[in-house]
Amino acid sequence: MFKKLQAKWNVNGRNLLLIIATFAIGGSICGFLGRKLLLLSGLEKNFGWFLLYIILITILWPFCVILVSFPLGQFAFFKKYIKKILKRVMLSRSFVAGINNNIRIAIFASGAGSNAQKIIEYFRKEPHIKIDLVVCNKPGAGVIKIAGDNNIECLMVNREFPLGSDLFIAALKKRRIDFIILAGFLIKIPSALIMAFPKKIINIHPALLPAYGGKGMYGMFVHEAVIANKENKSGISIHYVDELYDHGEIIFQATYDILPADTAETLAQTIHRLEHTHYPPVIEKIVKKQKTS
Ligand code: GRF
Repeated sequence: MFKKLQAKWNVNGRNLLLIIATFAIGGSICGFLGRKLLLLSGLEKNFGWFLLYIILITILWPFCVILVSFPLGQFAFFKKYIKKILKRVMLSRSFVAGINNNIRIAIFASGAGSNAQKIIEYFRKEPHIKIDLVVCNKPGAGVIKIAGDNNIECLMVNREFPLGSDLFIAALKKRRIDFIILAGFLIKIPSALIMAFPKKIINIHPALLPAYGGKGMYGMFVHEAVIANKENKSGISIHYVDELYDHGEIIFQATYDILPADTAETLAQTIHRLEHTHYPPVIEKIVKKQKTS
């Protein structure tokens, strides 16, 4: 448990102990002060007293913890910690109040768009995550109809309106796009776009990266190569996008044990099912986590 906390908070063992001590001492001082203050009020110890006590220590707690964090040398950690809590509270408050604090997503796709379809369906039930835009580079691609059927604007990129141009990036910023989700998008993402959306561009690849990734490894080429090499496992990889094809940090992988009877076609179907199951919830987890951290 301590190791997990250490990794989560990104601190060494000594600081972890000091942080726990800060929580303990700050919490005790807060409880003590809360009781003293309420006793001064002259209220009887009944349910109301207890309720007020809880409210009081909730207010006092951050002050006491911050106070103790100074002598224990942990102020920097707690400042960050309290900021994070405040951000979460503000976010949920604005959600409740209906303030437009939605997470806005653009899906980039070039093909049939079955993943785009699943993502759109999945987030329909989620009021704070909006699929705001579809970006496509291939006239006639299935995903264009999917966008239309779901009343989502589809922006076409081409020579006059290139991906990564200032104009294109400005269009995304104007729509307040927070995340870009690639779902079968066959153009390499230019550095300008990666720089404009750092760690906000996510891709799915139909194999277990780093194997079977890179230029030319897409669609059936991937599955044909996996079967030709008689692999006994394949799967999906969800990863952040960097300047290289299928190269950024891996966020999630799911594995499939290839059957002797599998062909490239049956493998493609199974992998597609895996993608449809995992991509939307993984996206949800990432965008929610990033928005509140
Ligand atoms: C998926 O297999 C995905 O892994 C890859 O492109 C394919 C897109 O399929 N990046 P679809 O258009 O979503 O059906």
